[in-house]
Amino acid sequence: MKILVTGASGLVGSRLLRVFADHEVTGTRNSRVVEGLLPLDLADTAAIDALVDDLQPDLVLHPAAMPAVDRCELEPGLSLTINVEGTRAVARAAARVGARMVYFSSDYVFDGSAGPYEIDAEPAPINEYGRHKLAAEQAVSELVDDHVIVRICGVYGHDPRGLNFIMQLLARASSDETMKAPRDQWGTPTCADNLAAAVRELALSDYRGVAHPVGPDCLPRDEFARRAAAALGLDAGFIQAVDTPELAQPAPRPLRCGLDNRRTQELLSLRLLGVDEGLAAVAAELGR
Ligand SMILES: NC(=O)c1ccc[n+]([C@@H]2O[C@H](COP(=O)([O-])OP(=O)(O)OC[C@H]3O[C@@H](n4cnc5c(N)ncnc54)[C@H](OP(=O)(O)O)[C@@H]3O)[C@@H](O)[C@H]2O)c1
Repeated sequence: MKILVTGASGLVGSRLLRVFADHEVTGTRNSRVVEGLLPLDLADTAAIDALVDDLQPDLVLHPAAMPAVDRCELEPGLSLTINVEGTRAVARAAARVGARMVYFSSDYVFDGSAGPYEIDAEPAPINEYGRHKLAAEQAVSELVDDHVIVRICGVYGHDPRGLNFIMQLLARASSDETMKAPRDQWGTPTCADNLAAAVRELALSDYRGVAHPVGPDCLPRDEFARRAAAALGLDAGFIQAVDTPELAQPAPRPLRCGLDNRRTQELLSLRLLGVDEGLAAVAAELGR
């Protein structure tokens, strides 16, 4: 099967490349130069069309995005271009060549008043990132009949190229700085490798619609940080639990967020990993 993975230089995309290695996979990247990946800017719709027409993929996996929530709030025009119009262009191209499409969305399409959210809960985003992820979901479902919208939350894993949570935790632990972690922001942390394997099952099935292949545990960020530190053999003393206002984040945060994975778990043969199992797998990968 011919597969296109956008954003293959990212945390999620790099894992997707790995789990689909037995297929004919082409990956794209944007600012990070990674050998073997093709450059593609989601702002360049002509380049998206040319790439998809050239490759004629059977499956398009689309995690590429501008995912920094505060940057989206401060630069909403750019977020609209990348997260909404870029996704619309990918969806239009996928539909034109008859490809199945998997789009990566977020628990931030919800308002955070009643998480973890079921797949059919009513979205009500409270920040630009969430509004744009929701608009992109709508574009994909309108344009591509054969689609899966994979909503995810708090993805963690080893990513030497990235600045994700695990890498920040390791960096802070070896410095004198404290790490502030909000005790009032809840989510369902998701192990990147487990997510990629679950997405493979979903993508290769005939399932259509929304899926939540996230971890089963819903917990606040400070608790997750302490559990991650323990799994990595770090003294958690540098983690400081704070309330969200203290972080002065430009974008409002949905506080009681996270996703309910139970209906997605029923579709899968693999088990979606809880926090302690997922963190143990990451620690083993890091040799800790
Ligand atoms: N990680 C999470 O906890 C989380 C939670 C909820 C939803 N999501 C969603 O899951 C998806 C993947 O997230 P991630 O954690 O893998 O993010 P990531 O590590 O930051 O990777 C983002 C990817 O998108 C690419 N990209 C950025 N700007 C682009 C542009 N203008 N044109 C083309 N590609 C561009 C990046 O390329 P370069 O790095 O080469 O610039 C990178 O490959 C995103 O759609 C995100 O919204 C993630």
